[in-house]
Amino acid sequence: MPTFFIETFGCQMNVADSDTLAELLSMRGYSAASDAGSADLVVVNTCSVREHAEKRAKARIAHYAGRKAAGAALWVVGCMAERMGDSLRSEIRGVDQVIGATRIEHLSHDLDRYLGELASQSDTAVSAAPGVSMFLPIMRGCDNYCAYCVVPYVRGREHSIAKSVLLDKARRMARQGVKEITLLGQNVNSYRDGDTDFAALLRLMHDVEGIVRIRFTTSHPKDCSEKLVRTVAELPKLCSHFHLPIQSGSSRILERMNRTYTCDDYLRRVDTIRSLVADVDITTDIMVGFPAETDDDFRQTLSLVDLVRFTSAFMFAYSERDGTAAASMDGQVPQQEKKRRLEELITLQTAITKECYASMVGRTVDVLFTERQKRRDRAWMGQDAGCKRVLVRCEESLAGTILPMKIARSTGMTLIGERPAQCDS
Ligand code: 5AD
Ligand code: SF4
Repeated sequence: MPTFFIETFGCQMNVADSDTLAELLSMRGYSAASDAGSADLVVVNTCSVREHAEKRAKARIAHYAGRKAAGAALWVVGCMAERMGDSLRSEIRGVDQVIGATRIEHLSHDLDRYLGELASQSDTAVSAAPGVSMFLPIMRGCDNYCAYCVVPYVRGREHSIAKSVLLDKARRMARQGVKEITLLGQNVNSYRDGDTDFAALLRLMHDVEGIVRIRFTTSHPKDCSEKLVRTVAELPKLCSHFHLPIQSGSSRILERMNRTYTCDDYLRRVDTIRSLVADVDITTDIMVGFPAETDDDFRQTLSLVDLVRFTSAFMFAYSERDGTAAASMDGQVPQQEKKRRLEELITLQTAITKECYASMVGRTVDVLFTERQKRRDRAWMGQDAGCKRVLVRCEESLAGTILPMKIARSTGMTLIGERPAQCDS
């Protein structure tokens, strides 16, 4: 049986794409190799959102290219593949295929052509078993053109996937034992298929038997409607978590970013969410050092973070991306200053996250357990109905079960649950 190995960089969309590729390869008789060295096909799924992500991916591609066994193939897929195209093959010798992000959704049609002589004749294909929690892309591309962002250029125009296709996939996942589905899109709130908007799609998904939890990401603050928030509050399988990227706490910078909301608009959304959804976790993405961000703008970001008290946040220094509007803006912030601002922001948010986790000690929360923790064999990892990670020591398999867990302590970024009764060793 031929084997494959996939290394994935970047966002959850890339994780979902890698899972799809793995499934398509399995259907063609490939099995997963435990390491790249022994694989007949090595795939690197890349991210272009920041320069650092591209540098790391290039280093890995060069590493695999240098160690490629005779007859093995090396493919580069995803956003950097789209952005650089065939120039990647001249930059790094040994890359056999470059498959851009806009081709990924057509993989089921194109794969045999890409596989070419690698194509397997095997008919003993076994599809890889999916996990307890899986991603389901519901739309692709993005039309928002935030001034800093390369995504609209590498992932193309925004389009929604038909609800019938999505429901079929969700039902198939449920039959395979998946318990939790995370619906993915750059801006899930603008989903539309005929009369079905995102809130309506959530209702349809909610009826899929066997699925016990539904999550979604990312919500653009401009489209996160009260109707959506009410739908989340009403439907019991919907998790109480909103990932709502703010990007900056300065309305002046938000305007330059083309985010199309102000800080006040954002704060009103947060109030609506908190007043309607019990025990809700709100998380965010924040960027420092966008062109012309002054120290005063940055202080406003710190104040907003202090005010909102996000459960957690992904925080970045602005990275210039060729071809985006921000790349040609005046007032680029020096690297050192971006680094300093990022450190100050991370220090503040880390303290807030710790406080938020510590406030859970003594409470009982429902945890869906997904996998054994890799480093500590006897610990099981899960998530509460919001976004907080919960760990519990247990010999027995807890995969796929939802248990009420009393929280004994917090390590700062993870909650430790008391051992459940069935874990008697
Ligand atoms: N530089 C830094 N961070 C970026 N992001 C997107 N583009 C850039 C960039 N050029 C961040 C945003 C977005 C997250 C996925 O990545 O915060 O929400
Ligand atoms: Fe990028 Fe903005 Fe689209 Fe998000 S909404 S993918 S930040 S352009």
